[in-house]
Amino acid sequence: MEQKIKTLREYIEEAKTQGRAVGHFNISNLEAFHGIVNAATKLNLPVIIGVSEGEEAFVGRDEIFALVKAMKEQGKPVFLNADHHYTFDSVKACIDRGFDSVIVDGAALSFEENVALAKKCVEYARNCGRDVVVEGELGYIGQSSKILEGVPEGVLLDSLTTAKDAKRFVEETGVDMLAPAVGNIHGMFKGGVDPRLNIERIKEISDAVGIPLVLHGGSGNEADFAEAIKAGMAIVHINTEIRVAYKEALEESLEAHPEEVAPYKILKPTVEAVEEKVIEKLKLFNNID
Ligand code: G3H
Ligand code: ZN
Repeated sequence: MEQKIKTLREYIEEAKTQGRAVGHFNISNLEAFHGIVNAATKLNLPVIIGVSEGEEAFVGRDEIFALVKAMKEQGKPVFLNADHHYTFDSVKACIDRGFDSVIVDGAALSFEENVALAKKCVEYARNCGRDVVVEGELGYIGQSSKILEGVPEGVLLDSLTTAKDAKRFVEETGVDMLAPAVGNIHGMFKGGVDPRLNIERIKEISDAVGIPLVLHGGSGNEADFAEAIKAGMAIVHINTEIRVAYKEALEESLEAHPEEVAPYKILKPTVEAVEEKVIEKLKLFNNID
């Protein structure tokens, strides 16, 4: 029997008003899914599970939808986001399947093409018969959640999203949330610390658009979370750090038990490693000591 949980839109609004952010974490397997849900459940917080086009293809759109639905039926505020979907058809497929939110990523397109794509997705979402939250992207920050040797190709850290462009983009598309380029990058520098975010720019954009902002590329930006959230970021995305935690735990597990063949034993430490990482991040996003 489904218990009453708030809508994703309500959790985001609530977080924004209270100076907190909802955590968004990507998965491409069941272990990470369990780790994230365990963490959110322990802290009694809502959480967003994200799947990019590649992650979704690997996990299965129907399968991940069913898993998240099962969590909601247990009364857990777990939501599903189509993270970085690049075409109208891929966004539409996730809306049709029942995802709670979609990210239409036209950041690599021209401003006009990006507006046209986002607008089409917003119109489709508004007419789908459910409340689907639509996020647009403005400003290119790279596309891969991986360990980086330097700033991803094509990313210009001295050319951030402007408040003027952001306002125009939001007015012309009607998106519910906006992900700007404010010094953030997808992926994480080898040493684990990324370039600093431009907090002033986040504030300017937030004031200009009046809708919740989303911080992508959160791995490696720990030092700036508190100020970025205060300035208007209502969701923070983390992927690379989860991938690293998973991989390191898997390597250690295989090395410690070379004779073990039961996947549920080999992989248990990976669930725990993801859980630990997500708890650490959720505490930061929610001002919990
Ligand atoms: O959409 C995914 C996130 O923006 C992840 O970025 O890999 O730098 O944490 P990250
Ligand atoms: Zn992202």
